[in-house]
Order: sequence, then structure tokens, then C-alpha cells
Amino acid sequence: MSSSEIASSEGSTRLTFPDGFIWGSATSSFQIEGAPTTDGKSPSIWDTYCSVPGNIKDGSNGDVACDHYNRYVEDVALMRQLGFDAYRFSIAWTRVVPDGVGAVNSAGLDFYDRLVDELLSAGIQPFPTMYHWDLPQSLEDNGGWVNRDTAYAFADYTEAVVDRLGDRVKTFTTLNEPFVSANHGYVVGEHAPGHTSMEMGLAASHHLLLGHGLAGERIRAGAPDARLAIVINFTPLEPATDSEADRVETYHRNHLENHWYSDPVFGLGYPEDTADHVGWDRSEIQDGDMEIISAPIDLLGVNFYTREFASADDSFELPEGTPQNTMGWELHPPSFGKLLRWINDRYDVPSILITENGCPMPDNIRDENRIVDDDRLDYIRSHMAQVHGAIEDGVPIEGYLVWSLFDNFEWAWGYGPTFGIVEVNYETLERIPKKSALWFSESKSQNGFEIS
Ligand code: FCB
Repeated sequence: MSSSEIASSEGSTRLTFPDGFIWGSATSSFQIEGAPTTDGKSPSIWDTYCSVPGNIKDGSNGDVACDHYNRYVEDVALMRQLGFDAYRFSIAWTRVVPDGVGAVNSAGLDFYDRLVDELLSAGIQPFPTMYHWDLPQSLEDNGGWVNRDTAYAFADYTEAVVDRLGDRVKTFTTLNEPFVSANHGYVVGEHAPGHTSMEMGLAASHHLLLGHGLAGERIRAGAPDARLAIVINFTPLEPATDSEADRVETYHRNHLENHWYSDPVFGLGYPEDTADHVGWDRSEIQDGDMEIISAPIDLLGVNFYTREFASADDSFELPEGTPQNTMGWELHPPSFGKLLRWINDRYDVPSILITENGCPMPDNIRDENRIVDDDRLDYIRSHMAQVHGAIEDGVPIEGYLVWSLFDNFEWAWGYGPTFGIVEVNYETLERIPKKSALWFSESKSQNGFEIS
């Protein structure tokens, strides 16, 4: 059966997804695991970054987070209860190769080995991501992603993971959101490692992509039947005004945010005019790099949250009354559908998985002990409706993973924003599904839902 749209008598429409459509959720290691020194784990750049006063809004860190490292059995059981098909998580490099390069720490790999087995026995497909921003601090001490060697170290670490999990994992993802790693970590400084240099950011961007390509080679060699994926975030941009200056700003920001990673991966190279515009001398690009970076992938993971408006003088603010989440990001589902069609038109994409989509909301309404998050439920439903529309138009989307399974450590924002469809009580660490989780679970069981 393909996807379908059936009008009901009460004026609502039932959307049904194609058979085999994947319903699931996503998390990342630093945001949920805790256990920062257990079984030989070393510090990552996020451990260091959190230790600097002022870096994290609420002064928090990842030391406990959701304590998932110790509670993964319970967490998998919960996903099974909710009926999810898939779980996207990330592997902490600092557990597997604590020094960043060199010796592999078997005890660290054991954790992911157990997690994968637990997922498989619950009938849940594991989608591990090799890098979700928690670089070993020892590598940052040698320049981090600004240093080309980090790309080779990433490939070696990936090989160790593939050696251990490649017999069971069917899809390996290299990077999560390289734009955010390079931009927030090296240009803007609001993420670890906290640098503020365009030059460093450009070098980091190329080395991240090179790391993706080199790790991809190891995944192909070590797990020839597994699929190779990368996760890229896209934020559609519109000019704040009609002025020439705002249009030029939009043009280049769009290249930097929405083309910079996907264009090279799909063989189109870096946007040259924007590379000139930001003064990149491209000295990091060595012979053969672009071929390594553009080796075919099997799956593109797409993360989408919001659209943005670009203004040359950075003066734009959302007009009062604009629907937005608790982090001030506009809620604009149509931008998602438009983006998915654009990706499919621009690139030769074999398959797309929505690897992140979700929102932090006030979560201040309860029925008995459960958070009644109709606003989040609406967000997920309206964005999934956009996915459905894109599928009807021929965009090859195989599934949708909510960000996030749990309320968790939201980077520089700390524990304030709650993205979870499952509440985590940070005192007791109890997990309680919110109304949106129950709706998502029910919709999954019917492979669709009603929209009005
Ligand atoms: C994405 C990140 C994810 C989470 C969401 C809200 O950029 O990949 O870890 O922080 O945003």
C-alpha cells in the first residue's frame, strides 16, 4: 500500500503512511547518558565547556543527564511499550577511544553492544550516529576539527565501532549536523569548544566533511551490507525585507547553512561565490578530498525545526504573536514540506529519513501526573502531515524520528527547554510519557492519524 489521504465525514482527513514507514525517536550520547567517567570514558569538549561558568544558561552539565547509561534497559522497554520501530542514538567517541586516537576501550564498546542487543530483541532498529558533537578533549587540545588529523582519527574510531557492531547494525550514520559543529563550535562560540573565528570554522567544516568521507570508507569496508548515512540540518531562510542588502545576506547565509555540507556530499562542491565572499582561501582542500567527501551515501538524515529570516544588520525579530516554541523558534510547518521537495529536486537522494523534528514547549498542563502537551502533539502532527504531502509528491522519505525521546540536556540552554515526548523528572529520574508520546504511539500502531 502506498500513502493515502482519505476524507472522513466529520470534515477531518485521515493520513496513512506507506507500509514499512519507520516511526521512532532520537537522542544523543552527551544529552542523555551521564556516567562521565564510567568504564574508562574520558572527558569530551562538552565536559570541558560545561565546566566554564557562564557557558551553560543554568550552569548545568552532562554528569547525570537522564542517567541513560545505567537505565538503558528500562529505556528500551519503554520504547518497546510505545511500539516504536527505530531508535537513533549516538556513540560517545570518548567511551570507545578515550585518548581520541590509539587504544580501543572494550568496556566502552560493551555498552553500545548491549544497547544494540537490547534494541534488537525489542524489535527496534538501531540507528547509531558516530559523532554528535562530543569530541574527545585530547583531540581538541591538538586543534580539534581545525586539525586535519582529527578526520583520520574519526575514521579509526569509526572502524572500531563497525568492527564491533557491524554484524547487527544495518545503518551507520557518520556525523550529526556538521554545520552546527563548525558554526556554533568554532565561529560563534556558543557551543563547545567555544572558538570565535570564521577561519577556524571553515577549516573545521572541511575536516568534518573529510571525516565523513573517510569514516564512510571504513563503514563500507567493515560492514558491506550496512547503509551509509549522514545527518544534515536545514533551516530555510527568507530575507527579512526586500532590500538588496537583506537579499544578499540571505543568499550567502543560505549557502553557508543549507548548501555547505549537502552540496559537497552530493558532488556539487562548495558554493564558490560564498566561499569567496567569506574570504576562504581553501588551503585545507587537498587533492582527492572532494571525491572522498562525495562518495555515494545510501541515506540522508534530515533535521528540521524552523525557518529563519536573514537581515544584513541582524535586526530582525519575529513579530509579536508569531507562533514559536520556548526557545523562540518560529513554528512554520509549510517550510518543512517545501524544504523536503527542494532537497529531492536538488540532489540525487536515494532515501531520506527525518532524523530530528520536535519542539520545546511550556509543559505546564497536567492531568493527574501526565503532561498534557497538545501544543507539541500539534507540532508533530502538522510536521508529519508535511512529510506525508512530500511523500505523495514523490520524495523518498522512509520514516520520521521525533526529537526527542526524552527531555534532556539541551546544550548551551541546559535543562530548561524540554523537547521530550517523555518527561524526565530530574530529581527521581522517573520517565513519564507525555500525551504526545501516547498519540505518537497510537498513530504508529495505525500507521497514520487524523488531521482537521
Ligand atoms: C539539534 C541537535 C540536537 C538537539 C536539537 C534540539 O540541532 O542535533 O542534539 O539539540 O537540535
